[in-house]
Amino acid sequence: MNVQNALDLLRQTVGARDIWIWGAGNQGRGICQVLRSHRINIAGFIDRSVRGESEQLMGLPVCKPDMVNASDFGDDHFVIIASYFFEIDIASQLQAVNLLEGRDFLGYTRLKPVDYSVDISGTCNLKCISCPRATRSPDERKLGFMPLETFQRVLDKIVAESPFVGNIQLYQWGEPTLHPQLPEIIAYAHEKGVRCAISSNLNAKVDYARILAAKPEWLRISASGWGEDYEITHTKGRWSVFLEHLREVARLRREYHPEMKVEVYYHLYKHSVGEGLERFRTLCEELNLELHPVYAYLVSLDDVLAHCEGHPLPEPAQKAADLLLLNLDQGIDIARRYAHLSCDALRCVNINWDASVSTCMMYYYPEANIVAQDYLTTSLDDIQTRRYASDLCKRCSSHGIHQYCSSYARLDTDVSITADMQG
Ligand SMILES: C[S@@+](CC[C@H](N)C(=O)[O-])C[C@H]1O[C@@H](n2cnc3c(N)ncnc32)[C@H](O)[C@@H]1O
Repeated sequence: MNVQNALDLLRQTVGARDIWIWGAGNQGRGICQVLRSHRINIAGFIDRSVRGESEQLMGLPVCKPDMVNASDFGDDHFVIIASYFFEIDIASQLQAVNLLEGRDFLGYTRLKPVDYSVDISGTCNLKCISCPRATRSPDERKLGFMPLETFQRVLDKIVAESPFVGNIQLYQWGEPTLHPQLPEIIAYAHEKGVRCAISSNLNAKVDYARILAAKPEWLRISASGWGEDYEITHTKGRWSVFLEHLREVARLRREYHPEMKVEVYYHLYKHSVGEGLERFRTLCEELNLELHPVYAYLVSLDDVLAHCEGHPLPEPAQKAADLLLLNLDQGIDIARRYAHLSCDALRCVNINWDASVSTCMMYYYPEANIVAQDYLTTSLDDIQTRRYASDLCKRCSSHGIHQYCSSYARLDTDVSITADMQG
């Protein structure tokens, strides 16, 4: 369906009702930006993490999910669900109050079936033991940065093939702050109406002022532990450097870009819970940064698949596995409970720094994991057809681990660990 038809259908379905976007994260903000650019008004966001009544985002109110419980909600309101991991859960909540999919709500994936990550940096400054970069020496995979001109052509193609894309992430395995043209890349994305998310270990000695002045919309800061403990799993990282940069970024954000979403993505391991976590919480409160604790896992499915196929883990991955709160087999068991769900990773096309396209963003080693050498000359249809038919995909889903990373993202770190570990 072309853009005009999709917009006409949306307008017709919504009628005179107000549109609310359920999900105030990256996806919600991206879809809001695109719809507004087509002069479709958005009334506000619905999000469970809303802090106060007066919370505003993109100039719009953010309300609690219980607003949909009003008996006449569907008469005046229409919902677009914009959540990468929770679309099914939110749809069930809406159905529970007698709202009908297609009539009263729809998932953003109906407008934007494909998301994109562009891994602009083919290199990283750290060797985190849970990451495949720790297992491979740098020369085993070519290292480099996506040139600005390539990025511009890549983004032009993304927007041409997927016109409802309003946000992209500029990382997957690399460290985006190392890219010397990151500010120019962000500026070009903004020119195209696309919001940018970056994730950083904040250990690189780079010009953070230049990066924040370019106003990326979303910054994830990765960390795992306090003091020396941080350096165990942020291997080769230095705590003192991280701390200095964290304070600097918090200050620069106030100066340049207060509306930037910052989340401190704190990996929970045996050594990073307890006092370390509490000290981190206090620090985040002091710096006005949002702390988002998540259970750590082995980030490359290569290792998880190899484990399922009976191979030993590489040494760094084994070290990381020994530190996991939710151990590898427990994580796999949980993933298998969700194995009936389709694979979330198939919805995201990962373009590497050299413009090759990954079969799957969750796999690192390039040998079996490249479906197209050149994104620029391969159509989206071809890319998706090849990905869906790939052997890697079949092997992964035959072991029921295609939901491995997503199921961690869905875990509620406050309440679920005991139940999930026992169940
Ligand atoms: C491999 S990193 C690369 C991006 C960047 N260098 C960074 O450190 O944020 C991509 C994402 O994986 C997340 N990640 C890395 N190790 C993790 C782990 N053991 N458990 C959960 N998430 C992890 C990071 O927080 C980051 O958002």
